[in-house]
Amino acid sequence: MTTDTLTLPAAEVDEAGTLRFASQADAEQSLTLGAFNVAVPDGLDVSAGLAFCRSFYEPATGHPGERHRGHREHGHAASKLGYEDRPDQVEQLQLESFLWQEYLPDDVTAVLRWMRQLTLDVLYGVFDTAGVPEGDRDLITGGARQDTGLCYTTVNHYRAGLSDRAGIVEHSDSGFITTICTDKPGYEILHEGRWLPVRERPGHFTVNLGDAFRVLTRKLPRPVTAVYHRVPELRPDAGTPDRSSFTVYMGPRYDMSLYQYDTGGRLREYQSFRDFSVEKAGKLGYAFHSRV
Ligand SMILES: [Fe+2]
Repeated sequence: MTTDTLTLPAAEVDEAGTLRFASQADAEQSLTLGAFNVAVPDGLDVSAGLAFCRSFYEPATGHPGERHRGHREHGHAASKLGYEDRPDQVEQLQLESFLWQEYLPDDVTAVLRWMRQLTLDVLYGVFDTAGVPEGDRDLITGGARQDTGLCYTTVNHYRAGLSDRAGIVEHSDSGFITTICTDKPGYEILHEGRWLPVRERPGHFTVNLGDAFRVLTRKLPRPVTAVYHRVPELRPDAGTPDRSSFTVYMGPRYDMSLYQYDTGGRLREYQSFRDFSVEKAGKLGYAFHSRV
């Protein structure tokens, strides 16, 4: 039996910050799948981010100014997110973009800021492709361009030693967009009712489109899919580190509304994003962030 694998459509951001899909077919398939690859920009070295995925959960050394380790017990009082030991294999650290400088090593913050700009450029390119007018975008995103929406990083350590549980359980992301950097295969998406392993495209990030995009565009001629994705259980592999991934996410703030275009193309308030998120958590059976 052969396992089908999926190659995602491809795109890059040019020097002017414009998203260019490899072809019109890649653009359309990206919205249909809710996922695509975007080239890592020339000069962006992601290794500090991947190294941080392998250290953030280690106990603090007690050195003043140590920010590479000790995040499991840190507390991150200024964050509404922070460290979480999930019921799947992942333990993760989530921090809002305005806290990166305070809590993260400088080399990691530099990588994330570059990824944040890339994610914003990609988001705007997808808005173009989906036909979302420029003048509506600040309202819809809460000011993603000014970084007044909700932007955070998620730093993931897949604990391959934990057996009988998924790597990361199937889910869609809640916001508009997530840019993912990882060092190993394992990512799968649900496509036409089947789970398909996605082939890694070297030198590229993976981009997921999420619920806020799906809701926004559902009645437009080119609706965007919120991609269902997962990572199956990973086995320890002597000689290689556990799977690492880190992401930059952009979505509405929890005090904002989700929006939706009606069939006439008018923008309407749909539901409070907090209510939407609490409802979604309830349906999926997990606890919503206690501090939000
Ligand atoms: Fe996700």
